[in-house]
Amino acid sequence: MATSTWQNATTEIHSGYSPAGPHRPMTVPIYNSAAFEFPDYATAAELFSLKKAGFTYSRTGNPTVSVLEARAAALEGGIGALATATGQAAVAVSLLALLQGPNHLVASNKLYGGTVDLLTDTFADFGVTVTFVDPEDPANWAAAITAKTRGFLLESVSNPLVTLVDLRAITDVARAAGIPVVVDNTLATPAAYRPIDFGADIVVHSATKALAGHGSVLGGLIVDAGTFDFSDPARWPQIAAPKARYYGDSLLERYGPNAYLMLARSKFLHDLGPTLTAASASAILTGIETLSLRVAKAQANVLDLVAALDAHPAVARVHHPSLPGHQDHELAHRDFPAGTGCVFSFDLHDASAVPQVVDSVELFALAANIGDARSLIVHPAAMTHCRLSDAQLAAAGISAGTLRVSVGLEDSADLIADLTGALDALTQETTSPTRESVGV
Ligand SMILES: Cc1ncc(COP(=O)(O)O)c(C=O)c1O
Repeated sequence: MATSTWQNATTEIHSGYSPAGPHRPMTVPIYNSAAFEFPDYATAAELFSLKKAGFTYSRTGNPTVSVLEARAAALEGGIGALATATGQAAVAVSLLALLQGPNHLVASNKLYGGTVDLLTDTFADFGVTVTFVDPEDPANWAAAITAKTRGFLLESVSNPLVTLVDLRAITDVARAAGIPVVVDNTLATPAAYRPIDFGADIVVHSATKALAGHGSVLGGLIVDAGTFDFSDPARWPQIAAPKARYYGDSLLERYGPNAYLMLARSKFLHDLGPTLTAASASAILTGIETLSLRVAKAQANVLDLVAALDAHPAVARVHHPSLPGHQDHELAHRDFPAGTGCVFSFDLHDASAVPQVVDSVELFALAANIGDARSLIVHPAAMTHCRLSDAQLAAAGISAGTLRVSVGLEDSADLIADLTGALDALTQETTSPTRESVGV
């Protein structure tokens, strides 16, 4: 089937799987098996030495997970993908495969808090240095490059403030310097935006979010565009130099453009073990079947809510590029015609009212997730981004009064009534008429 010419909605449902075998199941079977029997000794030896492709043990590959990997690659326009247990593992493994000892990364200063923890704490413990830059000006990326830089990392739509970047301009800087660009496309989703179309080399996802779409499972994905030139063994010894682990071969000579993903799978997934289960892969595949539909509905709800909150006197600022005054309004129009996903944030005039608002909404659950069918709210400074320093929070644009919402698939009138009802109580408290003024 001509998968590469399909539109998103078709790819979401059909890519990577056709019913087969004696029962021809319509949905992808869950291969609930830790190991796979080898037909004979010779095949076992070939599979273990990675000379032949196939399934040995579900830590490094499973038939259900493999359909998800094929579908994710098709959706993002990559040559292949690797699934991981969580989005956090996808970010970590995607970067570990680029690092060889105490290398350097340049990263956006507007990232999910868990990613910041990974970079500033865990990676720092292993000698990796990171320069955080304001991602919106490509010159900042160019200025931060050192001889040891082995990757750029950014979010296509940032969490939580929904800032955007001119990705093509940043990937041009990276390409000129021989540096791969890793883009976390979790908030946007490939239904709205494909970073590879703008020059990204590697795309990562928390599949926990909109891909799975129902808040029921964790998962991560790494998609490789297959276009980055890893051929210099001095810069990329883990890929281009001969390795004892691969019987004296280099991954590049063995696997060509698939070498990066082979490193991620055969070394990092194998050695560290952050493996996605077949059951979770199945749930994510089911979620992906409705991705475009859900992204469109969430985007419509987001626009309704943004308009309602932007007009509310308790709100100091709504962070969403659909608003004409937003710094990324033109960019959103040009590069994100299908919207930026289900997340947006807003600042209260009175930060001390945050607990009251989150405790009084009923439909918006106080839960640290995004991309669920249900609407969710968090207070980033105290929750998802709580380990950022004051300076990091300020650089990310997060204030004490910032609330992030993940807009679900409920009716937008109900969502508006819920959120504005909680906010009305604030303005009524400050401007409520006195007994004298109403004559009682
Ligand atoms: C943009 C982004 N990337 C990565 C992650 C980590 O994903 P997970 O929670 O699946 O480990 C998150 C989680 O919130 C996220 O928002």
